[in-house]
Parts: sequence; C-alpha cells; structure tokens
Amino acid sequence: MPGKRKETPRGGIWEPSSQDSQSHFPSDRLHIPVLLQESVDALNLSPEAVVVDATLGEGGHAAEILRRLSERGRLIGFERDRRMISALRLSDPRLAVVEGNFKDTARILKSLELDRVDAVLGDLGVSARHYRTPEWGFSFADGPLDMRLGEEGVTAADILNGWPEDRLAAWLIESGERRGRSIAKVIAAFRQTRKLTRTSELIGLVEEAVGKSKRGSHPATKVFRAIREAVTGEREDLESFIPSATESLKLNGRLAILTYSWEEERLVRRGADRLVKGCICPHDFPVCRCGKVPTLRWISRKGIVPGKREVNGNPSARSAKLFVLERL
Ligand SMILES: C[S@@+](CC[C@H](N)C(=O)[O-])C[C@H]1O[C@@H](n2cnc3c(N)ncnc32)[C@H](O)[C@@H]1O
Repeated sequence: MPGKRKETPRGGIWEPSSQDSQSHFPSDRLHIPVLLQESVDALNLSPEAVVVDATLGEGGHAAEILRRLSERGRLIGFERDRRMISALRLSDPRLAVVEGNFKDTARILKSLELDRVDAVLGDLGVSARHYRTPEWGFSFADGPLDMRLGEEGVTAADILNGWPEDRLAAWLIESGERRGRSIAKVIAAFRQTRKLTRTSELIGLVEEAVGKSKRGSHPATKVFRAIREAVTGEREDLESFIPSATESLKLNGRLAILTYSWEEERLVRRGADRLVKGCICPHDFPVCRCGKVPTLRWISRKGIVPGKREVNGNPSARSAKLFVLERL
C-alpha cells in the first residue's frame, strides 16, 4: 500500500519492513500465540481500526490483527527487546514497529502523532524465543545468568550475587515461591566460595534446597520467573501500562491483557480496578472531593482461560488468563 505511506508519522519510527500488500508470516515461527482468537475478538476491531500490539514478540497476535484489518487499518507494534525486532519475520505495510516499552504507550503514540487508538493488546512476559535461546539466560538449558530484555541494566547474576540473603528470600516469597527462604540460604552459602554465573548452577542450587520434582512443573520455575521479574522490572512496567494505555484509547476502545501468573493477574485487576472505580476519596467522605471519574469498565474481570485443547497443544497456555476492559 505504498500510496498510504505519506500518512505515516514522522521520526523514522514508522518503518514497514516490506511494501508487499499481503502480510507475510512464515510457518517456521517458534512462538504459538496464546488465546489468539479470543484476544483479538476481545479488541472488537473494525476493519479500519488503529491498533497497538504492545508486546509484538514474534508477531503471532499481530498477524491475526492484520488479517482482520482492511488496507486502511493500522497496527503499531511495540517491542522492548531489540533482538526480537531483528528476528521478527512479520512484514506488512500497515505495521509500524517501535522499539519501546509499553509503560510509555501514551508518550510513544503522541510522538507518532497518534493521540488515540481503537484497541491495545498486551501479552505479558517473554516469548518462546527467549526461552529457546540459552545465551539470553531465560532457559533451563545452560546459559549465562542474564535475563535482560536487551543490553542494559542489571543481570540475573548481579541480583543473585549482589542481593542480601534476606532481600532475595523476601522477593522469592512475594513472587509466590513459598520455599524462598531455603533457596536464598543455599544461594548465599554457594556464593561465599564463588559467584553464580550459569543457569544450570541456579537450577542445581534450587534442587539442593527443595529437591527434584517428581511431577508437575520444574522446581526452579518460580525462581526463574521471580528473578526475571526483578531483572526486567516488568511489574512496575505493568503498573504504568494500564493507565498509559487507557489514556491512549478512544471512547469504547478496548484494552486486552494476557497474563501468565497470579502476580500478573493481581496487578492487572488492581491497576484496572483503580480506573474502573474512579473516585479515590476515603469511604467516609459524604461527597467526592477527588473529582476522579471512572475511565474504564470491565468486560471480563474474571479472566478468559484457554480450553483443554489449546493447553494440550501449547503447554505455555496453561496458566494464561485474558482480561478485557473498555474505555469510558
Ligand atoms: C509473550 S511475548 C508476546 C508474543 C506475541 N504476542 C506473539 O504472538 O508473538 C511478550 C513480548 O513482549 C516483549 N516485552 C516484554 N516487556 C515489554 C515491555 N514492557 N514493553 C514492550 N515489550 C515488552 C518481550 O520482549 C516479548 O517479546
């Protein structure tokens, strides 16, 4: 759709990677998009919609969104990890890829001179490519303890070697790993002799602390998630994402968020409830003095979960929940 390119925002961010009129999405992708139809249905898209995929990843949801848009529709895809953008195999003239953090949704859209959009989708966490690339440090296969979504900031090794034992234990427990104290103790004893540098060492220490699991998920699953969340700061990003995305939505625009843990669920419900409720005056105030009005309404607060068939075909969908809201 080359004729449409002059409408594109300035600043060199609007960069369709191909001028083909068809989306191209090869079948050798690693990531199976979760609750694909349900999450794109939830966005309630018109064919001309302007949509944000706040977590582009490997482009699975983006490809389905593009499939539902006409030539006049637009998709802006955010991705924080530059390596994911380099590896992206989805190209479409209606797609603009932005290297950025979804916590800055409103600011990024303003810089693109796109104040309001019709829908925003956030698919939290990291992609299958992160797990399948041991050098990035997210995987149980041996690799460096990195876990950064890029090249800046602290690594998993910095946290595991640098945080005091109590802080590490508290973080693990707060993240849902009830054996956090024993795990932190074993880690602290190990690092008295040498630094932790490899994911395989961390797995060994978790197994030493809690034993090897006989069934169910790997005993180090929650520890890896907790350390990743400390490295990426994803909880804080999520807290900012909800108000920022809400500010960017048109009237009746939809916000859909896919979560994969109880902690993410809690943050989404709590963050959205604040905007659904509006007024923040103390309960005993007879009249509202804060002046805050509701800006969102829940479409699905309980969360839509995948069916057995999807979970059987894609184990990473097993903990998924889809939350949907609408802009007032
Ligand atoms: C679960 S994957 C998304 C998968 C995608 N829906 C698909 O179908 O391929 C999440 C992606 O969001 C990226 N990401 C994580 N935090 C982000 C943030 N704060 N802002 C933008 N992208 C982020 C990750 O690097 C990862 O590629």
